Amino acid sequence: MRATVMDGVGGPEVLVERDVPMVVPAIGEAVVRVAAAGVNPIDAKTRAGGGASALIREFPAVLGVDFCGTIVRPAFDTHPLQPGDEVYGMVSVPRLSGSYAQFLTVPVIAIARSPRTLTPTQAAAVPCAALTAWGCIVTVGAAKRGDRVLVHAAAGGVGHIAVQLAKRAGAYVVATASGRNAAWLRELGADEVIDYREERFENVTGDIDIVVDLIGNVKDDTGTRSLRVMRPGGLLVSVPTGSWPEFRADAAAGGMRATDIKALSDTATLTAIAELIDSGELAVHVDREFPVADAAEAHRELEKGHTRGKLVLNVQG
Ligand SMILES: NC(=O)c1ccc[n+]([C@@H]2O[C@H](COP(=O)([O-])OP(=O)(O)OC[C@H]3O[C@@H](n4cnc5c(N)ncnc54)[C@H](OP(=O)(O)O)[C@@H]3O)[C@@H](O)[C@H]2O)c1
Repeated sequence: MRATVMDGVGGPEVLVERDVPMVVPAIGEAVVRVAAAGVNPIDAKTRAGGGASALIREFPAVLGVDFCGTIVRPAFDTHPLQPGDEVYGMVSVPRLSGSYAQFLTVPVIAIARSPRTLTPTQAAAVPCAALTAWGCIVTVGAAKRGDRVLVHAAAGGVGHIAVQLAKRAGAYVVATASGRNAAWLRELGADEVIDYREERFENVTGDIDIVVDLIGNVKDDTGTRSLRVMRPGGLLVSVPTGSWPEFRADAAAGGMRATDIKALSDTATLTAIAELIDSGELAVHVDREFPVADAAEAHRELEKGHTRGKLVLNVQG
């Protein structure tokens, strides 16, 4: 099969197209012909030698956690997902081979029928971002009517979905983004948009119940500064890993709660997300689509850090 692989970690140029052996499913896995692959920061971090790169057992390795595609081999004869069914989901890379390839194997408990109102490109943009946002707002955050929710990096993949889910839960939503994204984020449901290039958010907001921190202390001590705008007992969900190792202790010292989070893919949550999309209650924005052969260019774009919504690779061509 064709795949965009890397022979070692490094810059975007390590991503090259190549023939590789066909994937082989384990028990409980389906084989999917990939139509499109979402691009996520974890892909770029792993490619660069961070992220999940320590788990790569051998090169060449295939990146890509997000996908939409068609079942070509079911997990078993009578499983509900059968050849020809269009599915979407998230695969654990590098434990399994990724979605920057014609085919992948994935546990059937980690996939669902893709939203019927989306193209495969749009559907491939959804899983990692939406599952993470769902975790922050619904499962862990349990946001409810009247809560004040602050979403950092609201214009990105996770953020633009978190804004919509928080609004849907009845929360008052404060978003940070650059000014060019303000009007769009208001359309998605943000009540206030703070332009982080013009003002420091701690000077203009407060009484926050839930912080969805998609930046951490990678930039401008965003994580630490978030504690200054929270209510006692409020919850900070720290999404990027590693940039702020003391976040739990720092939050506890101020009388706040804090947790990390990991995107987990399961059929029930993906189905719930697909239903929201198909009923028009949740939208995903694809900023740019690239042919999978141009994955390096997509990574360069992602690493600029200013994607609006998602980047997607077209795998079928
Ligand atoms: N734990 C997990 O399972 C998990 C899952 C998913 C993602 N993550 C992590 O979460 C983080 C966000 O992921 P993502 O996919 O949403 O990223 P992304 O789409 O690449 O985020 C890009 C967005 O960040 C915004 N941004 C950049 N600097 C900012 C700042 N100082 N303040 C506010 N916004 C800023 C940009 O908005 P402007 O263009 O307006 O500047 C842009 O829209 C990444 O570190 C990723 O690795 C973790």
